[in-house]
Amino acid sequence: MIAEHYRITKTIEPNVLIARFRDKGDGFKMDHVKFRAMKDGDKEDYAFLNEHEIEYTKGTSNKLLGALTELDEGLSGYQITRLGHSLQSATRAERDGADTDWIVSTLLHDIGDIFAPYNHDEYAASILRPFVREQCTWVVEKHADFQMVYYGRHVGADPNKREKHRGHIFFDDCVTFCERWDQSSFDPEYDTLPISHFTERVHKVFARRPYDPTVLRPGVREQLVS
Ligand SMILES: [Fe+2]
Ligand SMILES: [Fe+2]
Repeated sequence: MIAEHYRITKTIEPNVLIARFRDKGDGFKMDHVKFRAMKDGDKEDYAFLNEHEIEYTKGTSNKLLGALTELDEGLSGYQITRLGHSLQSATRAERDGADTDWIVSTLLHDIGDIFAPYNHDEYAASILRPFVREQCTWVVEKHADFQMVYYGRHVGADPNKREKHRGHIFFDDCVTFCERWDQSSFDPEYDTLPISHFTERVHKVFARRPYDPTVLRPGVREQLVS
């Protein structure tokens, strides 16, 4: 581990760490802010950063698809990989006639396994929240509590953990999500669709205007199964 860290540290060149001003042939052009502490920034600095941020966020869907493929190497022991599980869940959602918000949310529902193994549900929900219907975000955020009903008794956890959410408008949706798409999607013989089948949908969802109320539609329930 230490050797690994050392190798990575040694390969970082100073010009990766320090942004520079460059002359791009059309005169002097700003390519980093002037300040070294945020409180010293001015309007020009923050307008420049805002522009950068907008460009950067355009790559979100590609980064997520890349992260999803990393799930192929994570968490062993199941008969299929985490990527296989994610694809199979999304395939089942699509075959049930669910809409794009459901399909993309299902595809990404376990993406938090990479960096947040103890709250992967909240992590995935945070990624989805600005871009999909509130119903889907809520279900993804709570799905780990609902999954307990299937295996809690085998690991000394409360199988009825989902009960604390009973009465919530999306309670039944999370029950259906877990039963039909999540807990059932560990089958190596299921005819699972490849990641290429879902990429266009992912790009479309993350190209939406963040927090668009016509997308988030608080309180609205769309059928999981047609
Ligand atoms: Fe999960
Ligand atoms: Fe899952």
